[in-house]
This record gives sequence, structure tokens and C-alpha cells, in this order.
Amino acid sequence: MQFNHVPVLLEECMKMLNLKNNGIYVDCTMGGAGHSREILKRTSPGGKLIALDQDEEAYLYGRERLKEFGDRVTVVHDNFKNVKSILEKLATGPVDGFLLDIGVSSYQLDNPERGFSYMEDAPLDMRMNREQQTQTAADLVNTKSQEELTDIIFHFGEERWAKRIAQFIVEYRTGKRIETTGELVQIIKKAIPAGARKEGPHPAKRTFQALRIAINNELEVLESAVADAATFLKPGGRICVITFHSLEDRIIKNQFLKLSGACTCPPGFPVCRCQNPRIVKIITRKPVVPSAGEILSNPRARSAKLRVAERVLN
Ligand SMILES: C[S@@+](CC[C@H](N)C(=O)[O-])C[C@H]1O[C@@H](n2cnc3c(N)ncnc32)[C@H](O)[C@@H]1O
Repeated sequence: MQFNHVPVLLEECMKMLNLKNNGIYVDCTMGGAGHSREILKRTSPGGKLIALDQDEEAYLYGRERLKEFGDRVTVVHDNFKNVKSILEKLATGPVDGFLLDIGVSSYQLDNPERGFSYMEDAPLDMRMNREQQTQTAADLVNTKSQEELTDIIFHFGEERWAKRIAQFIVEYRTGKRIETTGELVQIIKKAIPAGARKEGPHPAKRTFQALRIAINNELEVLESAVADAATFLKPGGRICVITFHSLEDRIIKNQFLKLSGACTCPPGFPVCRCQNPRIVKIITRKPVVPSAGEILSNPRARSAKLRVAERVLN
């Protein structure tokens, strides 16, 4: 299976990172190493890169693809939730930039064996780190209560038919297990009324997104990783985050606001209690989105949003 991931918003990220040829950069989501390679090429000869991925196949592939850059690159197989301890262990000191290109790579989506895709029939897996995670998406749909499933599908998938989908899942699994992506797609199609399925994306898209987020704890780790990364930046260093759906984008937007010192107390509080310190300034008030040309040549880029913040002196 080829690793065919086309890096999204590549030029925009390179520009926003303000690359310097002796800088130290961290790619928290190496994937097919498209962004990583470009950072290394454009920071030649002295720039260094630490590249992480929690997916073992991505880690092995990326390590191979970046081999030519020798000791300018360190490839680490780990979750970016551990970025602080990874950088402490590597004794990098403050760094010049972070990139997070959140979500799944085309390789993960296109490899049926990984169970991320609703387009192929395969075991319902969806784990990004198959060595460390034991619970698969099949375990989740076969063990969670109807209420828990509704909650996951509604919140992580923003799926208006969550309640019916959860009900159909629970009815189907009586006396048997749901084992494959194909079975789940059929259940979802039955749960969503035909009229509501006529337009819009594939009917299983939102439910698959929800299960993937739940299985990989994707949202929980995002907030803390961005905060840790911001404290590791040199003054003037930047953190660039690409997201692919509104839940992630909202987390990044709010986390950047908090790190920029904005008050995040609930509305109606008479006095500010949060006292957020100002660690960064926000560079992108509105997210940067792909050009029409990029979307045409890479339709998977269409929902991408890039937000950037810069470490301030303090
Ligand atoms: C969209 S792809 C990145 C593609 C990459 N920028 C490129 O140019 O090829 C996202 C990658 O991040 C990895 N990933 C997602 N969440 C992660 C996490 N919490 N820690 C480490 N890697 C993660 C996935 O395994 C996947 O390989």
C-alpha cells in the first residue's frame, strides 16, 4: 500500500512558520512527511526537525522518507500529547515553530485494513496506535449503551440522527457483534430516513468521524498539546494548526484565545476570575483556507482551516 498523502495548505504553512535556516521545528503529525520534508528543505543547511506520529506505519514510512536529512531530523513514535516530555528528553530547549495537521492521513483512510473508511468493507478498527490502544471501534459499538452511543455520535459527529443510529446499532447487535465497516454503514443507512440521505455527504461520514474521535481520544489531547507547545516556543516562534472539522477548529480557536490572555470566564461573571496569562498573539483572526485551485486538485483539502499564533515576549 502506497503512502499517497498530499500535504494540505503547504505553502501557507511554510510562510506562516517564518522558517529560519538554523531553526528548530516540531511536526507533531508527520503522516506521509510532506510538511516535514518541506520544512527540512527550506531550513537547509542548519535547521532541525523533530517529527512525531503515533501511527507505527506512518512513523516507519516517515523515518524512511526523511532519512536523507541525516541528523537534522529526529523521528519519534509517540502521541503529541507527550510533546513536552519528548522535547525535554531531547533537550531541544525552546523551539522556533510547531505544526499540527490534525486528523487522519489519506493512507489511513485509503487502507481498508485500518477500518477508518466507510467506502470499503473491512474490520471496524480505527485505532491510530494499534500497539498501545486496545479498544477498537467494533468494541465501542458493541459495548456502549444506547445513551452513550447517542452522546458520542451527536457530540463528536454533530449528527442530527444520532439517537436513531444508536437505537439501530443496539437493535442490530442483539445476539451478535458488529464486526465490519460494511455492517455499520448498512445500519446507519437504515437508521437515517431516505429523504435525509438524498443530499449532503455520505450518510456514514459523521458517525465514522465520531467513532474515530472517540477511539483515539482526539479532542482531549488537542487542548493540552497546544498549550504545552505554546510554552515551548521561543519569542516570535509560531504554532500552526490545521483542522478538518468544526469541533477541532473551535477547540483551537478557544485555546488560542485563552493563551492570548483573553478572558474566558462564563458570560455574566462580574469580575474576571480566569486571569489567563498572555503567552501568544493570534496571527490569524480568521482561519486560512485552501484556494479553489488546491481544492480542485486535492478535494480532501476542502474543509481544512489553518490557525496560527505567535509566542510573545514575557
Ligand atoms: C493529516 S495526517 C498528517 C499529514 C502530514 N502533514 C503530511 O504532510 O503528510 C495526520 C497524522 O497525524 C497523526 N496523528 C493524529 N493524532 C495524533 C496524535 N495525537 N499524536 C501523534 N500523531 C497523531 C496521524 O496518525 C496521521 O498520520
